[in-house]
Amino acid sequence: MAKKIRILCIVGMLAALALVVGCKSSGGDDNVQTETTDAPDGERKQQPVTPMPTTDPAIDYSDRDASDMSLKDAYSEYFPIGVAVNSWQLEDSTTMDVITKDFSTITTENEMKPDYILDHDASIKAEDGMPEIATDKMDEIMSMAEDAGLKMRGHTLVWHSQTPDWLFYEDYDISKERVDRDTMLKRMEEYIKKVLTFCKEEHPGVVVAWDVVNEAISDNQGGGYRTDSPWYEVIGEDYIEYAFTYARKYAEEGTKLFINDYGLNGKDKRETMYDIASGLFERGILDGIGMQSHHDMGLVVDDVETSLFMFAQIKGINIQLTELDIHNNDNSDTALAEQAELYGNLFELLLYMDKNGYADITGVTFWGLNDENTWLTGHRKETSYPLLFDKDNKAKPCYFAIYDALKES
Ligand code: G3I
Repeated sequence: MAKKIRILCIVGMLAALALVVGCKSSGGDDNVQTETTDAPDGERKQQPVTPMPTTDPAIDYSDRDASDMSLKDAYSEYFPIGVAVNSWQLEDSTTMDVITKDFSTITTENEMKPDYILDHDASIKAEDGMPEIATDKMDEIMSMAEDAGLKMRGHTLVWHSQTPDWLFYEDYDISKERVDRDTMLKRMEEYIKKVLTFCKEEHPGVVVAWDVVNEAISDNQGGGYRTDSPWYEVIGEDYIEYAFTYARKYAEEGTKLFINDYGLNGKDKRETMYDIASGLFERGILDGIGMQSHHDMGLVVDDVETSLFMFAQIKGINIQLTELDIHNNDNSDTALAEQAELYGNLFELLLYMDKNGYADITGVTFWGLNDENTWLTGHRKETSYPLLFDKDNKAKPCYFAIYDALKES
């Protein structure tokens, strides 16, 4: 959206949000893993997508590797740029060079999830009956990040997925009964305490943000809580509040605590997120909202704008795009140019919101380094080209469009 149009829209947008804020949502659950782009009024706004030159013709972008181009530097006065990685990528020096050239933060795509940290055998043997963690891999990753001068987003502490079933059962044995609420709260506290204490004591200053609770909101009409999470089933809906209370208690001072979810451009999830986050923020136990931002080529940037304006009504809240990608099954020049325009428009919006103080955008993380290693190809069951770099780590048109957004905004 052009700057002038944006300015004209602001008054109307704020007035509309004043009406929307306060609407309560309720609902059930399901497991859709993609973003929705419904406008708040249920209509779909159309945004023309036309191929356009994505680079400044005056600048030779042909060899970004040999240039001093760096997204993290270009965006440094606005927000950090991050990327989701796996430890094998950090171990590879060539890949590490690509990472450190453009990104200042990393998120482990999987390796800091409960599935990877909880130690079943040790938990069974623990005399106090509390869950035990294995810290070797985490230690290794945090050391590599530290050595490379990278900060980290921790992902994630409390989630219905990639968390072992046994955590919720008596004696950590799924053939037995589920534990009661009080036991589960103790287990939750102990897990959060152990992970955050390890980070704080062994690698102070490295993890700057945590996705404390991930995907707690239902995809069903009306939004509301995801009720099929074992955390919800065993503890009840206040598991979210407890998770943030424990995270605040044990996190290193200054670590930003996020609630993270996908589909936040849809009206119902957006409103539920607003309700949950505003309550936790007021209590001082939450710092920010993580908008995962798994988009496709139907992305309507205006819907992102609506969500940003709504979340920013919570004065002082941090907003981060935590898992950004734009699914695109076509590697043709035309499709890549269209994708570049979407990325460019999105970053123009982020800069516009941040620069003008309409929202405090404190980070944008891409969910993967290159098109060779994207979760989307498996998830969509078709080859996806969603990220900034191609399979050879060559910058794609969208990389340059994000650069160009700085000149446009
Ligand atoms: O654990 C096995 C491993 O032992 C085996 O070698 C490997 C071989 O295929 O499979 C392994 O597990 C896979 C794991 O990724 C590690 O590669 C799982 O099957 C696979 O389901 C898992 O997918 C991850 C997915 O979360 C699980 O829900 C994706 O990599 C990861 O990108 C994705 O990330 C999530 C965020 O955490 C939350 N938001 C949505 C996002 C995309 O789904």
